[in-house]
Amino acid sequence: MSKSLYEVGEIPPLGVVPEKMYASLIRPERYGRPDQAFATEVIDVPTVKRGQVLVMVMAAGINYNNVWAASGKPVDVIRMRQKMGQPEDFHVGGSEGSGVVWAIGDGVRNVEVGDHVVLSPGQWDETAEDVRLGGDPMVSKSLGAYGYEVNYGTFAQFALVDDYQLHPKPANLSWEAAACYMLTAGTAYRQLTGWAPNTVKPGDPVLIWGGAGGLGSMAIQIARLLGGRPIAVVSDDAKAEYCMKLGAVGTINRTEFDHWGRLPDVDDREASKSWNKSAQAFGRKIWEILGERAAPKIVLEHSGENTVPTSMYVCDTLGMVVLCGGTSGYNGDTDLRHLWMRQKRFQGSHGADLKECREVTSLIASGLLDPCLTACDDLAGVGRMHQMMADNEHPGGNMAVLVNAARPGMTSLVDETELAEETEAEASLVG
Ligand SMILES: NC(=O)c1ccc[n+]([C@@H]2O[C@H](COP(=O)([O-])OP(=O)(O)OC[C@H]3O[C@@H](n4cnc5c(N)ncnc54)[C@H](OP(=O)(O)O)[C@@H]3O)[C@@H](O)[C@H]2O)c1
Repeated sequence: MSKSLYEVGEIPPLGVVPEKMYASLIRPERYGRPDQAFATEVIDVPTVKRGQVLVMVMAAGINYNNVWAASGKPVDVIRMRQKMGQPEDFHVGGSEGSGVVWAIGDGVRNVEVGDHVVLSPGQWDETAEDVRLGGDPMVSKSLGAYGYEVNYGTFAQFALVDDYQLHPKPANLSWEAAACYMLTAGTAYRQLTGWAPNTVKPGDPVLIWGGAGGLGSMAIQIARLLGGRPIAVVSDDAKAEYCMKLGAVGTINRTEFDHWGRLPDVDDREASKSWNKSAQAFGRKIWEILGERAAPKIVLEHSGENTVPTSMYVCDTLGMVVLCGGTSGYNGDTDLRHLWMRQKRFQGSHGADLKECREVTSLIASGLLDPCLTACDDLAGVGRMHQMMADNEHPGGNMAVLVNAARPGMTSLVDETELAEETEAEASLVG
């Protein structure tokens, strides 16, 4: 018999959609620290419209964008959506995840109820003029990050997505491993392969900030797969060891340098001299690792204000600093002389298109790319996990939470171990 609300992990009959669901959500009155901003509440299951799909979430990936959402800065995502006419006074985050197709709207033909899927985070209007004219949807005016700018993400029993956001789940992966890689791997893949002619070629040195983090752990492996020589920047020895295991050719501990933050004014000779000294020492570390006086052809940036001046300084002539975030701040200073004299490129990059999402999924499915799942919690732990991320105290790699999956390691809707135990118990009773 169907009910209006199921407990988390209590699976309704396939395709039966309850009226209500549990979600770990953010409200404006709780904006601030992630561990306070998220709380598990009961809300209505959203209505599935044309072209949309309702997914029973088995596991959800944790990403930095919901650290921003929890703080209400730099964008108050709830207020932004309300201004656009949407009534919800809450935010259900979660930009990636894995699960089972539970209900489909009119016109959906790419999936069927019961399919096992992984979700990608880019969402756009397929009828938007720029998309219809053949533009990359990732630069469409209609683009929004699902589970950040767009509501009803994966931190809930059911997630509402557009049909093109769904991809076949690699069958060999647990729900949580399948849930954790798409956003970081896709973004890093686009940064390293999407901006021709500045793509990773065999032998290319590639400098990767936050090498042990979500983006970094994916970027090291992808750069290596393309034949590059990834150098990872880290802040402690354990992270350095992790990056070496992933394929880095060397690591640099950023705590050994002190020139972080905004550039001194060019007229401040003393401060500029001291900045140059520390930045040059950082550059020499790169030479030491490479065993030659070579500079990074690509610098994978996301740390922002603290590191952009160094990225632009050490990047090779005709090389590219490719940036997808600004964790430490949004003022990206650069000494323009380096930019023009060495004809460098400073490129913004955001998310991944569907082809890029499929390509990283193939790499993951074939075992060439490790999803780097390092921590897993449950729905009640969503705030805790984002807090670890905000404090830079997470173990590295990618993290996930189980939503409807009963335990870690499951690959199907039902818990096979439990079933096997039940069958064994029944058999022994009969015996
Ligand atoms: N636009 C997009 O499509 C997109 C997609 C994914 C992520 N992002 C953004 O990229 C950033 C990183 O995401 P992530 O998932 O990789 O996060 P993450 O797992 O927390 O990793 C970030 C790493 O950056 C390093 N870091 C932190 N503060 C730093 C600082 N001040 N200077 C230098 N390094 C610092 C840390 O490594 P160490 O302490 O070891 O150096 C940390 O492990 C976030 O701001 C996120 O919003 C954007």
